[in-house]
Amino acid sequence: MSWSVNVSTTVTVPVSARYIDEFLRLKCAPDLLRFFNKCQHPAKEVTETFAAFRMVRKQLGSENFGRNDFTCIVPGDGALPRTGATMAHLTRWEIISVDPALKEEGENAFGVERLQCIKKRIQDCRLYSRPNLVVLAVHSHAPLQAALDIASNWKEALVIAIPCCVPQAIQDREEYLKCKMSSTQDMGIFSQKNEVLTWKIIRASR
Ligand SMILES: C[S@@+](CC[C@H](N)C(=O)[O-])C[C@H]1O[C@@H](n2cnc3c(N)ncnc32)[C@H](O)[C@@H]1O
Repeated sequence: MSWSVNVSTTVTVPVSARYIDEFLRLKCAPDLLRFFNKCQHPAKEVTETFAAFRMVRKQLGSENFGRNDFTCIVPGDGALPRTGATMAHLTRWEIISVDPALKEEGENAFGVERLQCIKKRIQDCRLYSRPNLVVLAVHSHAPLQAALDIASNWKEALVIAIPCCVPQAIQDREEYLKCKMSSTQDMGIFSQKNEVLTWKIIRASR
């Protein structure tokens, strides 16, 4: 005689689809789709970019999205600038994606207004920033500190990094009046690499 026993367990996985919902509800979703739908894991990429966007909104408030004194630098944005294109659509800021792998370069790249693409390593650029600087490094392999060091003129910076295999760090330089770092895990990111690092920096006037 043989016995069979059926055992069932319920495992609650703390995952949220909020970023996919947010993306699908956007008026600009059809325009952004071409940046996401050609990669291997589009949903994962959407969640990474929108986790960075959510942290910007949490730290600065969406009331700042219409201002024209912000520059957003996106180091290591990939061949198709997913995060840069998303930020250009969702804010009125100047957006600069920097990656040697970019498929297009120049102003209004990929037909996106206010998106500048620079096909270089971040450490080889020299950029003039507006007074408020936002740096978004989404699974970037670029050296994070370089994004601050190569940008002149900024007074306050918000740096957000979602690291994958290359560690992402900011050094507390003497020229910074304040450099405060925080870290959270975001279960809305469809990847084990779901730590979101945030630095808020105020620079001494020069
Ligand atoms: C894992 S990919 C991530 C691409 C994109 N952020 C994404 O999430 O799909 C890492 C990117 O970092 C870029 N990268 C590596 N070193 C860099 C550097 N020094 N400056 C700018 N980009 C760099 C690579 O070319 C690559 O596109």
